[in-house]
Amino acid sequence: MLGLNLAPLRAADQKFDGFVTRPGVFSAGAVDSASALLAGALPGHLSGDIADFGAGWGYLSSCILSREAVTKLDLVEADFISLDCAKKNVPDPRAAFFWADATAWNGSYDAVVMNPPFHTSRVGDPELGRAFIAGAKRSLKTKGSLYLVANRHLPYETALEQCFAKVMELPGNGRFKLFHASRPKRK
Ligand SMILES: C[S@@+](CC[C@H](N)C(=O)[O-])C[C@H]1O[C@@H](n2cnc3c(N)ncnc32)[C@H](O)[C@@H]1O
Repeated sequence: MLGLNLAPLRAADQKFDGFVTRPGVFSAGAVDSASALLAGALPGHLSGDIADFGAGWGYLSSCILSREAVTKLDLVEADFISLDCAKKNVPDPRAAFFWADATAWNGSYDAVVMNPPFHTSRVGDPELGRAFIAGAKRSLKTKGSLYLVANRHLPYETALEQCFAKVMELPGNGRFKLFHASRPKRK
């Protein structure tokens, strides 16, 4: 479901480390620790057409676009204000911005990168993350890859095995786990 959180509309931009955020957006005023972990694990050879599902204010996207071999990056984000911040934080002609529901998105990508949301309002909801994983499967090319970070307690392993023929856990930390999944299943 698309989000229009009105509080940040009335707030001023907050600037830090060259990024712009607004109060009320995810991880306003700081880089999220899970996203920082995923950014550090992304391969240097990332290339082709990429999507950032739940792109927020654009931190992961800015890391993805530091790879010259990336030809296109679609930022798919349900929160309008976050996406507006991302437009300021990712001033790169390879980037395209979509105010859209990643769980209903259709694309054709070489890689999908995501730090999926795990709350609906205040309630923990792994179903949303599972729907992101299914959306990535649907939107990846046959040889495409998913890179995902998640809180350690979130049960995404079964969804990953159901959607991808190859699932590898990468080194994470005490709070977060990282996955690289490839060969999306077509049925
Ligand atoms: C955990 S945050 C990650 C944000 C960003 N990738 C980062 O690393 O800072 C998840 C993001 O997903 C967005 N989101 C939630 N539901 C969504 C949906 N159905 N489709 C697209 N984005 C969604 C939230 O607004 C939030 O910005």
